[in-house]
Amino acid sequence: MKNNSFILKEFLDNAFNLKSHLMEFLSIKECDLDGFLANAKMNLANLHPGDDLNDVSDFYTEMVGDRHVADLAAWHITSKDYIADTLKLQQRFSRDLVLDFGGGIGTHALANAMSSKVEHVFFVDINQTNRKFVEFRAKKLGVEKKLSFCKTIKEVQISKFDTIICLDVLEHLSDPSSQIEVFNEIMDSDSIALFNWYFYKGEKNEYPFHIDDVKVVEKFFKTLQSMFLEVFHPILITTRAYKKIS
Ligand SMILES: C[S@@+](CC[C@H](N)C(=O)[O-])C[C@H]1O[C@@H](n2cnc3c(N)ncnc32)[C@H](O)[C@@H]1O
Repeated sequence: MKNNSFILKEFLDNAFNLKSHLMEFLSIKECDLDGFLANAKMNLANLHPGDDLNDVSDFYTEMVGDRHVADLAAWHITSKDYIADTLKLQQRFSRDLVLDFGGGIGTHALANAMSSKVEHVFFVDINQTNRKFVEFRAKKLGVEKKLSFCKTIKEVQISKFDTIICLDVLEHLSDPSSQIEVFNEIMDSDSIALFNWYFYKGEKNEYPFHIDDVKVVEKFFKTLQSMFLEVFHPILITTRAYKKIS
């Protein structure tokens, strides 16, 4: 197992070998990688059908393919200081059984799997390419025994988690309020959940896939405030730590 400073340094140095993992997993040549990453955000936004989408989750299961891997990889590389702060935050709280819901390209799940305080990480993501990519990365990084991969929380078959990580996911769900109700049910009184959200489609509709409906957002905050108590942390980022209101 590696210590926290070493894990952070590895992320800041090379995002846990992200570029080489991308090249091998997606069969991209080194000379094409920078262009692939540079266009990733625009490609993902252009793919979204806007109001024509019947079911929000179809976008992540049927449409994005490997484009979300590309978009998330570009973001984690270009915003590495911000992502490193979210890793510092999870290092304060993560322990024992961890659920990473909507884990994307696996940065947080892999870092948690490297931690000696964590017994096992359950990586849940609706997108099959993301799950396969993170499974591939876990093997490359030698932490595969500490990770399991599922499409839904039900498949995990664990009734209580000590830590829940749900970062940059709630705004992608049609009903974020019911999702945090599910999280509440699978937490103990001393479990901690880390949540953030960005209910905004962007100045120029850069994030057409984000939910921004006023009623949905209001319902989310009412549920959050009725079920969770914030636990202070000193890291200056929007992600918040919560325990259950017992
Ligand atoms: C913006 S990414 C965030 C990834 C990662 N948590 C991070 O911070 O980099 C949102 C992720 O949520 C996943 N997702 C969207 N809807 C989901 C759902 N209903 N259940 C599980 N995962 C979902 C997507 O496939 C994607 O990997």
